[in-house]
Amino acid sequence: MTASAFRRPSGEPSRYHDMHRRSLADPQGFWSEAAEAVDWYQKPAKAFDPDLGVYGRWFVGGVCNTCYNALDRHVVGGRGGQAAMIYDSPVTATKKTFTYAELLAEVKTFAAVLAEFGVEKGDRVILYMPMVPEAVVAMLACARLGAVHSVVFGGFAAKELATRIDDAEPKLILTASCGIEASRIVAYKPLLDEALALARFKPDSCIVLQRPQKRADLMPGRDYDWASMREAARAGGKTADCVRVAATDPLYILYTSGTTGRPKGVVRDNGGHMVALIWSMRNLYGIAPGEVWWTASDIGWVVGHSYIVYAPLLLGATTILYEGKPIGTPDAGAFWRVISEHGAVALFTAPTAFRAIKKEDPDGKLMAQYDLKNFRTLFLAGERADPDTIQWAERLLNVPVIDHWWQTETGWAIAGNPVGIGMLPVKHGSPTVPMPGYDVRIVDEAGKDVAPNRMGSIVIKLPLPPACLPTLWRQDARMRESYLTEFPGFYKTADAGFIDDDGYVYVMGRTDDIINVAGHRLSTGGMEEVLASHRDVAECAVIGIHDDLKGEVPCGFIVLKSGVERSPAEIEKEIVALVRDKIGPVAAFKLAITVARLPKTRSGKILRGTMKKIADGEAWTMPATIDDPMALDEIRHELESHGVGALQGAS
Ligand code: COA
Ligand code: AMP
Repeated sequence: MTASAFRRPSGEPSRYHDMHRRSLADPQGFWSEAAEAVDWYQKPAKAFDPDLGVYGRWFVGGVCNTCYNALDRHVVGGRGGQAAMIYDSPVTATKKTFTYAELLAEVKTFAAVLAEFGVEKGDRVILYMPMVPEAVVAMLACARLGAVHSVVFGGFAAKELATRIDDAEPKLILTASCGIEASRIVAYKPLLDEALALARFKPDSCIVLQRPQKRADLMPGRDYDWASMREAARAGGKTADCVRVAATDPLYILYTSGTTGRPKGVVRDNGGHMVALIWSMRNLYGIAPGEVWWTASDIGWVVGHSYIVYAPLLLGATTILYEGKPIGTPDAGAFWRVISEHGAVALFTAPTAFRAIKKEDPDGKLMAQYDLKNFRTLFLAGERADPDTIQWAERLLNVPVIDHWWQTETGWAIAGNPVGIGMLPVKHGSPTVPMPGYDVRIVDEAGKDVAPNRMGSIVIKLPLPPACLPTLWRQDARMRESYLTEFPGFYKTADAGFIDDDGYVYVMGRTDDIINVAGHRLSTGGMEEVLASHRDVAECAVIGIHDDLKGEVPCGFIVLKSGVERSPAEIEKEIVALVRDKIGPVAAFKLAITVARLPKTRSGKILRGTMKKIADGEAWTMPATIDDPMALDEIRHELESHGVGALQGAS
């Protein structure tokens, strides 16, 4: 690991260590103080109640509204004329700024539309939408009514959407006619129609935002035109007030890949979420109200929920909603343009975005034409940040590049470098130190603490801090079984890594079947279910293999049923199309390889770990328990004939 040139500018000691110690020694006091940053209708009786819920609940007795805190109070407090959201969409050549007063007016109106459809506190509303202002308005409108939104990423296919519809049972679905990718227009409505045909649960209605790039057919009696509904409410002067909700009531459900094809419905509460996000904006990211902040992600991911929508608005900052890519819209200078044009002081994105820029413009020539004088910090998360990319970004931008580690489940960083309270020295390869409330430990298989610098499972001592998931939607038992049972008293992150002598955390990879493709979290188990459903496939395995741009990409191995006479190449093509159709383009599944058999242990376990090492060209050892050593050679041969993997043999 190398140390970065970027250190705390002043000689003042960081306040981090004292703060972290206090957050663990006195969580009630620490988080009660942080909760002062929220406007409550009724203050919580105490910060944490260990006797409620699966492992306790935060801010029990508190009554609040997240939309009020994100919008109304800023208008009341004099920020009405300040920009709340800047929509910058190179794919539609549109830029539009919404002040806090304007955004509030939109949200009040759209909340009235939702209320007319009968949406009430506790009802679920699914959003299947691109990165347009209406999506943010709709999320906040749900929050205003106490309804629970569930945003489904646009790159998921109909079947994935159907699974989420069946689990969330939404009263209403909000969608747009299309999304716009750099190279094509994605018609969303046919995907929604297919999902509704597949789903057991049938929502009452859908509201469809018609975009001029591709309009959708509406089904009379079920589908309603967004613009007309909004206009009718606006013309009629209809608005909806904030509904009081308990701090512990759900704000949203966000589905994330689990270890099977069945996604997990991560629940986020209202009170704890606000408290932790506001704390993080000031202390981790070092952002002040009124500053311009940019998260280049998608509202379909947790990063988008927390740091495009909620955190910047809760703080009273200006957020940028960017409908574009790091490259191709139109070029690898897009990020520099957005930062300079809107005066962003910080950017938060996934390392893959920077790898993409580095590939297209290795010398950063496109940056020369932009003025980045306001820009202070780059934050990276979503996947392991490789030191090469971090160093490249540091050299180019000449600002600190901060890697930080978190999960959909936690809603904010587990480990990071707290720029706002005194940055610690950056060590490349480490997302730095645990954030307040996170008591991070490394344990062995028996749950025993391991020594510094030794690899193990990363676990967090309960309770988790505010904003972390209290449970999975309607599945307390699955919450316990997935996260809390294996290491009693601890939350299992399913990441593996180590902590060094200075207390820096290193996150090296997952302990389950999750892979990270361009910062997107996907289950190889889910992909295997799709491969196995093909009529000619007898057996299969999917592994994540190294990719210079996306970090990892999936690679599927299939064994055909005996008697199948069609060519393997034809079947492989069908398999690739099947994954795209069932999971979506986001899976980036482009490689299926037919093999005569899969390498297994004598007890029948597929040796996925060794297959991955072979594909990545890493050194590997022949597992002692292997059934037939020749099976691994066959895999190596097939990978090489598909242009993957490597020269290293078994040692
Ligand atoms: N709706 C529909 N399709 C989508 C989509 C969306 N919202 N987002 C992505 N897709 C499609 C893409 O068009 C692509 O389709 P293709 O196979 O036809 O080319 C596929 O899903 C894979 O997308 P992606 O992994 O994003 O790859 P890409 O080649 O389009 O772009 C990067 C590569 C690196 C530029 C891109 O991944 C990126 O900007 N990543 C940033 C990561 C990020 O935001 N992570 C979120 C967590 S912080
Ligand atoms: P998601 O739920 O999509 O945010 O994905 C969470 C997973 O992404 C984590 O469990 C890690 O495996 C990985 N991850 C996220 N951020 C980092 C990081 N900074 N370093 C290493 N891995 C990361």
